[in-house]
Amino acid sequence: MSPQARRNSVFHTSIPDAGCAIDRNIPDFPIAQLSDEEKYFRTYKAPPYLDEIEEEVRKFIDYHATHTGKRVALITSGGTTVPLENNTVRFIDNFSAGTRGATSAEYFLENGYAVIFLYREFSLLPYSRHYSHTTNCFLDYMTESNNKVEINPDFAHEMLIILRKYKKAKDSNSLLVIPFTTVNQYLYTLRSIAILLQKVGSKALFFLAAAVSDFFLPQSRMPQHKIQSQSTGKLIIDLEQVPKFLRRLVDNWAPSGMIVSFKLETDSSILIDKAKTALDRYQHQLVIGNLLQSRKKEVVIVAPNDQSHSIKLSDREVKENLEIESLIVPEVAEHHEKWISDHIKNEQES
Ligand code: PMT
Repeated sequence: MSPQARRNSVFHTSIPDAGCAIDRNIPDFPIAQLSDEEKYFRTYKAPPYLDEIEEEVRKFIDYHATHTGKRVALITSGGTTVPLENNTVRFIDNFSAGTRGATSAEYFLENGYAVIFLYREFSLLPYSRHYSHTTNCFLDYMTESNNKVEINPDFAHEMLIILRKYKKAKDSNSLLVIPFTTVNQYLYTLRSIAILLQKVGSKALFFLAAAVSDFFLPQSRMPQHKIQSQSTGKLIIDLEQVPKFLRRLVDNWAPSGMIVSFKLETDSSILIDKAKTALDRYQHQLVIGNLLQSRKKEVVIVAPNDQSHSIKLSDREVKENLEIESLIVPEVAEHHEKWISDHIKNEQES
């Protein structure tokens, strides 16, 4: 039996009913102005561990700036949560498993990048994603022989290849993993890392694959303890809009880095327009559009000056388990190469 056939049949309970998707034709939120940013960071507290994260990130960036000269990709991955209570029992979440981010991280590493992987804690991680609970139980990769646990020979070759890549990333100090859970932690950490990445200038690449919440419950209105059942039988939650921080990233936090954002839609007829609008609004370098239903097989890459094209896996490529990120990442790296050389030219001219 092939390794593939041995895998358990998987019921994807997380795939939503597209017929129930919300109407994404409604206009986008206003972009965050400087005053929104100041207000946000004045009003909501930084995570208590932020200084420690900044220290780790600083060391990582200094190491690569001094010793390897590698380009540094900040990849954001997974979904942000919105807690409804301070002692959080309940929270609002979204579907993202972090597949796009974790998979892309591996290809960025293969393309010579140092990677800072800002991910939703417990979502997929580069390399270990191949053996995660979402694909199979890790024990299915083991077998017993002479009272010892061994790797099942069906998986051994594939695992060796992944193990070598993982070790290479680790031994060369090329992968730094930083977690977040809430949207507040995400925003604070993103801002801190972006500011620290200014040290490598145009060699910084932002690959924003995380699914970031558009609404949140301000700390001032958050109950301390678990919300109790209401006598009315209803719970009404009044959420605030999260400012769109992408513009702040482009203008203030990462003025020299190349920024790639993702646009997620469920209606194919508006995807390209929405991606172009995002590029126009935020004035960054690339938008990768994807549909919830087909995101693993097809994306559209939208660049300034109305340039757009699709990357699509054929049925054969899907069957052969080709990952679309193996095509997306080299293309993004090529754009980044040009971004860096344009920067060098501009510096020489000025
Ligand atoms: O993890 P997987 O299961 O593999 O799924 C991958 C993915 C579908 C989540 C990924 O490919 C993707 O599309 N990620 C972006 C999803 C998203 O948040 O899209 P959006 O249309 O809501 O936001 C567009 C952009 O605005 C994003 O770059 C986001 O970082 C930014 N944003 C969003 C909210 C907010 N308050 N401020 C922002 O700046």
